Amino acid sequence: MIAWLVYEKNNTKRNHRFIAHWIKLGKQLGIKFKLILIEQLRYGVRNNNLFLQVNGVDSKPDFAVMRLNAPLLSEFLEKIGIPIFNNAHVARICNDKRLTHMELNGIVPMMDTAFVDISSEKSPFPYPVVVKASNSCGGRKVFLCNNETAYISSLKECYPDTAVVQPLSDTIGKDVRVYILGNKILKSMMRYSTDGDFRSNVGQGGSAMPYKIDSETENNVMKILSRFNFDFVGVDFIFHNGRLLFNEIEDAVGTRMLYAHTDIDPVKCYLDHIIKSL
Ligand SMILES: Nc1ncnc2c1ncn2[C@@H]1O[C@H](COP(=O)(O)OP(=O)(O)O)[C@@H](O)[C@H]1O
Ligand SMILES: [Mg+2]
Repeated sequence: MIAWLVYEKNNTKRNHRFIAHWIKLGKQLGIKFKLILIEQLRYGVRNNNLFLQVNGVDSKPDFAVMRLNAPLLSEFLEKIGIPIFNNAHVARICNDKRLTHMELNGIVPMMDTAFVDISSEKSPFPYPVVVKASNSCGGRKVFLCNNETAYISSLKECYPDTAVVQPLSDTIGKDVRVYILGNKILKSMMRYSTDGDFRSNVGQGGSAMPYKIDSETENNVMKILSRFNFDFVGVDFIFHNGRLLFNEIEDAVGTRMLYAHTDIDPVKCYLDHIIKSL
């Protein structure tokens, strides 16, 4: 069986151990994982048929694990009958903060969230506000703005995305990630910033520890699970007014903190789940 592990080129370096682990575990199960970079792919319509090429050669895997933000590619692979993990619906909704907030509005409590164009000049909420590129991940395009000058320049940083804007929550520098595997809770973790940053992303210098979610949050997770069919994602919550508010869903969710702070092997769990669902 041939499987693709699809990445963007500039994400492979920091994930090389993770990639090697997929390849090793795959081998033990008779699955040959190939690292495929989106930059090597060509796909579209040719002679009235959909085509898919790697480095100019027609190719088709038995399944693909999508470790990138590429909803159109996900949709394409699904259309030509390749099983993909996560599925294209999850990729489309969860990689766009606006679609995610629209999808889950009325289902679970969340922070007020305005969708703005990057040429917006006036914040929709009183300062301080948080500006995020609509498809940001890893906290890389998430900014705390205390005034109009910061607001306008943060929006420029979001280019070519549009942005979402939220009030700053009352408890900053920590959040909760509920890992979901096969549409069930795998593990909940609290992430916390260690350097005063308001963002708790591990990629921004945050650390993490196992965390027990309360029953209200668990109920909210269940409500979210009822709207999707997740293979492996992170459902994230931020602290506000003494409770956890839904923040976002990470599609190609990182696993470093599970390896560092638990005895779970998420790649092994994910692979077992994939094999069961093929
Ligand atoms: N409204 C907010 N108020 C306070 N902190 C926030 C708010 N939104 C996000 N954060 C912090 O910033 C981090 C990154 O924001 P997030 O929405 O998760 O974007 P990304 O997809 O880039 O991770 C969150 O993990 C959280 O710690
Ligand atoms: Mg996040």
